[in-house]
Amino acid sequence: MLTDKKILIGIGGGIAVYKVAELARMLTRAGADVRCVMTGSACEFVTPLTFEALTGNPVHTELFDLTAEQRMGHITLARWADAVIIAPATANLLARLAHGIADDLLTTIMQVCEAPVLLAPAMNRSMWESEATQRNFGRLKKRGFYHIGPETGELACGEQGAGRMADIRAILSALLPLLSDKPLIGQHWVINAGPTVEPWDGVRILTNRASGTLGALLADLACIMGASVTLVAGPGTPESHPGVIRRNVSTAAEMLSICELEAAGANLFIGTAAVSDFRFAESHAGKLKRGDSSKMSIELVANEDIVAHIASMPRRPTRVIAFAAESDHHIEHARAKLAAKNADAIIANDISNMGRAAGSSADGNELAGGWWISRHGEQIEIEPGTKLDFARQIIQHIQQMSEMEAREFKR
Ligand SMILES: Cc1cc2nc3c(=O)[nH]c(=O)nc-3n(C[C@H](O)[C@H](O)[C@H](O)COP(=O)(O)O)c2cc1C
Repeated sequence: MLTDKKILIGIGGGIAVYKVAELARMLTRAGADVRCVMTGSACEFVTPLTFEALTGNPVHTELFDLTAEQRMGHITLARWADAVIIAPATANLLARLAHGIADDLLTTIMQVCEAPVLLAPAMNRSMWESEATQRNFGRLKKRGFYHIGPETGELACGEQGAGRMADIRAILSALLPLLSDKPLIGQHWVINAGPTVEPWDGVRILTNRASGTLGALLADLACIMGASVTLVAGPGTPESHPGVIRRNVSTAAEMLSICELEAAGANLFIGTAAVSDFRFAESHAGKLKRGDSSKMSIELVANEDIVAHIASMPRRPTRVIAFAAESDHHIEHARAKLAAKNADAIIANDISNMGRAAGSSADGNELAGGWWISRHGEQIEIEPGTKLDFARQIIQHIQQMSEMEAREFKR
């Protein structure tokens, strides 16, 4: 996917610059044409020579450089790029970009550039958490900038916390969809994500540990790949790409009615949400008193299975994909669910993949693998990796299933 792609790396003055050298090397070795623009501060950390040697291209540092202007000035560089990575995206760069300041070569290019831009922020924890940085970062996301990280862990300054630049493999994974040729154009996908919340009284609720991250990533990726995407999001589901149409819901009943409305006639429905199987038979407006009894029972009634409902609608989406989070006998249980829900495929995975589940590794952004099981009998392993890797593999299987069915249809 990287062969002959033109990647501009905007390099800020942060300690993580040394990792960007490896990123430039990886991109170049993968066949991309890589050009680097370094801020003045970045040149204090590593000399342009490093990037020149790794990419085989001249490195750009000066806005007012007559020779460089003749060869490749800020407008030409901005138009040349298929995608831009800004790494490390310093607090200072985030601030300048958020406010439209164009006082050096990189920020001036960014004022002109219409290519997708991926930010990889890296900085000290307090700098990252500061109100100013969060506000600037929020503005950039709203303007359609993509981002990866920062990660939480040990920082170069010796402190612990959020601010470490994302791993370069994760940066590469996040870059690939930005270079895609929008193969999903013309398709309407509906995805539900996150937990549901069933109220018992004014303060008490029944919910689960799902985070909604994987569903949100699937929605972002499908949108980047050209689909029109509606995300029906339970409470706490992470923010979405600006192109995703988002419908926030709370209870299972709300999620069902919005999904039913949105998914009618859609090309694809993916049920990633952890929908509560039950709700309270009665719910109360105020706060119920504890009372004197040492025991109590509460009556629960079953909620409708959303995926099964969507798969049986008269205007059923062309494809319905289900998820099965299991703690044992994953494949066996998933196969039974695939049949019971009348879905086209199901993704079997372990409950440890649920963002907030006890013993979960998913908060650290790493998922155990899973299995893609289709109604055609395919059973393909989904490799462990980041949530983004997981989402990309699922979309790949969906595309392969569609291609296979199209071939069958032609016969
Ligand atoms: C040793 C050292 C390490 C630094 N590391 C970072 C960093 O990781 N992230 C950051 O935002 N700023 C960092 N800074 C501060 C930036 O270099 C400074 O804000 C600079 O103005 C950024 O300029 P630029 O955004 O134009 O590259 C560091 C400064 C020093 C001296």
